[in-house]
Amino acid sequence: MPDSNKLIIFDTTLRDGEQSPGASMTREEKLRIARQLERLKVDVIEAGFAASSPGDFDAIRAIASTIKESIICSLSRANERDIARAAEALEPAARKRIHTFIATSPLHMEKKLRMSPDQVYEQARLAVRYARKFTDDVEFSPEDGSRSDLDFLCRVLEGVIDEGATTINFADTVGYGVPEMIGHTLKTLRERIPNSDKAVWSVHCHNDLGMAVANSLAAVMIGGARQIECTINGLGERAGNTALEEIVMAVKTRRDHFKLDVGIDTAQIVPTSKLVSQITGFAVQPNKAVVGANAFAHASGIHQDGILKARDTYEIMRAEDVGWSANKIVLGKLSGRNAFKQRLEELGIALASEAEVNAAFARFKELADRKSDIFDEDIMALVSDEQNAHEHEFYKFVSLSQHSETGEKPSAKVVFAADGKEVKCEGQGNGPVDAIVNAIESHTASGAELLLFSVNAITTGTQSQGEVTMRLSKSGRIVNGVGADLDIVVASAKAYLSALNKLQSKNEKLNPQL
Ligand code: KIV
Ligand code: ZN
Repeated sequence: MPDSNKLIIFDTTLRDGEQSPGASMTREEKLRIARQLERLKVDVIEAGFAASSPGDFDAIRAIASTIKESIICSLSRANERDIARAAEALEPAARKRIHTFIATSPLHMEKKLRMSPDQVYEQARLAVRYARKFTDDVEFSPEDGSRSDLDFLCRVLEGVIDEGATTINFADTVGYGVPEMIGHTLKTLRERIPNSDKAVWSVHCHNDLGMAVANSLAAVMIGGARQIECTINGLGERAGNTALEEIVMAVKTRRDHFKLDVGIDTAQIVPTSKLVSQITGFAVQPNKAVVGANAFAHASGIHQDGILKARDTYEIMRAEDVGWSANKIVLGKLSGRNAFKQRLEELGIALASEAEVNAAFARFKELADRKSDIFDEDIMALVSDEQNAHEHEFYKFVSLSQHSETGEKPSAKVVFAADGKEVKCEGQGNGPVDAIVNAIESHTASGAELLLFSVNAITTGTQSQGEVTMRLSKSGRIVNGVGADLDIVVASAKAYLSALNKLQSKNEKLNPQL
């Protein structure tokens, strides 16, 4: 059994986080996030659901081959095929975990699984027994645990612990729980199940009623859980999961109350948040705790005055402790390839080949010609752009010209490559972005519906690059495209083409819970 004062941080950004509509990530993107999660020192990285697609299988295998410090985990439904696939993907991992689950609520068993409680009980036992053939680190989750019958849960969980499950993860799949209920349910389960002390107890909460963090902490304080499953920025199905940054900073800042330790390097929280938001295209709301742009901004005169006199009058955490740094100029026009490469290494960005470093360096030089000060955020954006160009290169932005004048309909000419062939197109629209989208659509005719269009400044000041996210939907598929440029109209064209590329790719994934 692990140290009872240690709270295990299990990150599921790459699995449950990826289940957010449009958040699906490529192998390279997942690897970049996994490397950053290792720098953040999370205990367990749930890298994906191996049986969901060949792409996810490859991503898990790549992460398992690369990451040395964190335990690498794959989700699998409670059947031999999924478990064998998870085991195969995890094979290169230094430390591996198989996470298997089955629904235990009457509603899910009857309507979704069409199985009797006895069948679910047997299937859960079989799954854990089979998973133990591949690793002695096996986690079991009763899906929809918070709407399950307590007696039945006791029976199933005792059975799976008996088969060798080492972590029991209580899942509030639909975010139905409230703190006292989750806390007391876990407490009762641990008291009533005779072999409960043979497993670490964990909690997995969704945020449908905005209580995921409170529910998880109640599971710890009342229920004795010692693992919390969470995601960066609270990404996840529907309203998302428990936010890692909030859990970690609550436990650290109020150690007097929680009396628990976490192994997280908190200075990596903001860089991780920015990376995840940039890759997935899910912007962080400004007033989000810990990682929102306003989390440490004091606007009122009274607060500013207080802060100047004594910082702790209005600040319970220090911005720098979670990785907020005033935008630091890191490179400029005169910086050479070596300085650029070294900064990539310091940021934990490992490009696959020297050719990729050269291509990223060329982009850096181009940017440095147009913008005097280059910040870490600029480097991260150009690397993402470069990797996108490598991965989904069916459509590639080349150039554009756009004309807007008061009282006139904006027009645009866009040049891009489609499968290596240059295409020139023109369009008009109600605004400049509408004009470039119409121009691109005049050739691609994707017919996709634009669900979201957002622009964020990557750093501060009017010199900042704009980062645009376009979320498109077509035939039930939702994808996010992200593009960055000093010119936000160019960034919009890049984002639109990147989203079209994702729609083109046949990276279909099975949702484990459907
Ligand atoms: O929400 C859920 O029930 C899950 C399980 C697979 C743990 O994500
Ligand atoms: Zn979940």
